[in-house]
Amino acid sequence: MNNIFDAHAHYDDDWFDEDRYELISSLPSKGVSGIVNAAVDLKTAEIAKSFAEKYDYMYFTVGFHPENLEDMPENYLESIAEMLKHEKAVALGEIGLDYHWDIEKNLQHRVFEEQLKLAKDLDVPVVIHDREAHGDVMEYLREYKPKGLLHCFSGSVEMLKEVLKLGLSISLGGTVTYKNARVPVEVAQYVPLDRLLLETDSPYLSPVPNRGKRNDSSNIIFTATKIAEIKGMGVQELLDITSENAKRLYGIDA
Ligand code: NI
Repeated sequence: MNNIFDAHAHYDDDWFDEDRYELISSLPSKGVSGIVNAAVDLKTAEIAKSFAEKYDYMYFTVGFHPENLEDMPENYLESIAEMLKHEKAVALGEIGLDYHWDIEKNLQHRVFEEQLKLAKDLDVPVVIHDREAHGDVMEYLREYKPKGLLHCFSGSVEMLKEVLKLGLSISLGGTVTYKNARVPVEVAQYVPLDRLLLETDSPYLSPVPNRGKRNDSSNIIFTATKIAEIKGMGVQELLDITSENAKRLYGIDA
């Protein structure tokens, strides 16, 4: 198998401290052809940028994740806009709402909205993080109509229908392989092939049979195998289509 495009990963995470560069260097030999390293703040965006400058198959996003708002500088929007000028900066993200953790909602909403406006102004795609906040996330998406991706989509088929109507895509990861994954399987079944991307969210959410272990982009093969089975198609065909979708969404020519 080849042409594995990981639409969302975090190789800046501590979990990779011991063997980060060795691992990233080994991924093309396992069929990985593209990786978007998603930032969660400016510091991780800088690290992700350094990966993109070191490896031709890596790209990065810039943005503030709702869990990372503590040390946000006043002029963060200017910094994001500046970093997005980089030729390998492909989206504003990950941004969104997270109601799983106890994070001040007013602040989350303000920062999410400001970044959605910036993405509109700059005409760049967004990568949305939505954890247990479906209703409010959808309200913002209806209002601002950004282009982009809901990563690790965890909503229902009903929500997906509206997401598709808004022109957005989704990415699916390891959760679709989990034993009790009823809704993700329905979502995988329903989503049209031209709106689906594959991701790992590495180092988290490893697919079965590696669930609980550190995840990396080569594990997409397990997620792809499961989704191909659900959709009744070949695994390589699915990898090829989702790789093209990722490149189109992120504006990658390679
Ligand atoms: Ni993520």
